Amino acid sequence: MPVDARPPRLLVFDSGVGGLSIMADIQRLLPGCSVSYASDNAAFPYGTKSEAILIARVDRVLHQLIQHSRPDVVVVACNSASTLALPHIRAHFREPIVGVVPAIKPAAQRSHTKVIGLLATPGTVARPYTRDLIQQFAPDCTVISLGSSELVRLAEAHLRGQTPSPEQLQDLLSPMMAHPRASEMDTLVLACTHFPLLKRELQAVVGPDVALIDSGEAIARRVAYWLAELGLEGSACTSPSHQALFTADGPEVERLEPALREFGITDVQVIAVSND
Ligand code: DGL
Repeated sequence: MPVDARPPRLLVFDSGVGGLSIMADIQRLLPGCSVSYASDNAAFPYGTKSEAILIARVDRVLHQLIQHSRPDVVVVACNSASTLALPHIRAHFREPIVGVVPAIKPAAQRSHTKVIGLLATPGTVARPYTRDLIQQFAPDCTVISLGSSELVRLAEAHLRGQTPSPEQLQDLLSPMMAHPRASEMDTLVLACTHFPLLKRELQAVVGPDVALIDSGEAIARRVAYWLAELGLEGSACTSPSHQALFTADGPEVERLEPALREFGITDVQVIAVSND
């Protein structure tokens, strides 16, 4: 690929800042890609929305975001949206769509005790898609599930400079830890893209013997696959440029700017999404 060719363009989309955990893995594997990071903060959180409302919202927002950033590949960096809306999204847009879904399969393969934890949003925990993943890939495992919107909120605050205390996290995980087989759990799936942003803090609470598994690396590899299919080479270009798009303005966006700079994002824009 000639060095002056344009970098491959990716759209990485989530309700909030969670997709930045996926962006980090993409940037590690594919440093030459230009990324538009989009947060539908006007409709945050997704994990508690009804299915019909969420499908309609994701469709409307993606439509506008794709028109705005003309990506080569779209990453729906949100388990709550992907476990519900992927078939619908793939039917509506012609760009390759990479979805993020709970890493049940690698967790079940890795677990020796066959007791695994599943930490996600209430929406993802309840989805038939997630139940099917468990039935298909972890039929021999006891899966201890916990849906938490509070943990999503804490991850948002963390990226704005507020780290949760170990007691807060312990409290939050206590329903999972109260399970009769919790002491055998050796693998914990972080099935919300917000949660890897608190990986160190969560690891400190569950202890060093529990492996925390997320989907980030696999997603980055899937993006690389699509770029190769499209004849675009993610690492060839040396001058990618990144931007962040938000669907609502406000001080919460400003408070994210230091964290966004760590991802090479200084261009921050707000795009209005109509409600019809
Ligand atoms: N980061 C998202 C996920 O992976 C959604 C969090 C939310 O908006 O509730 O599920």
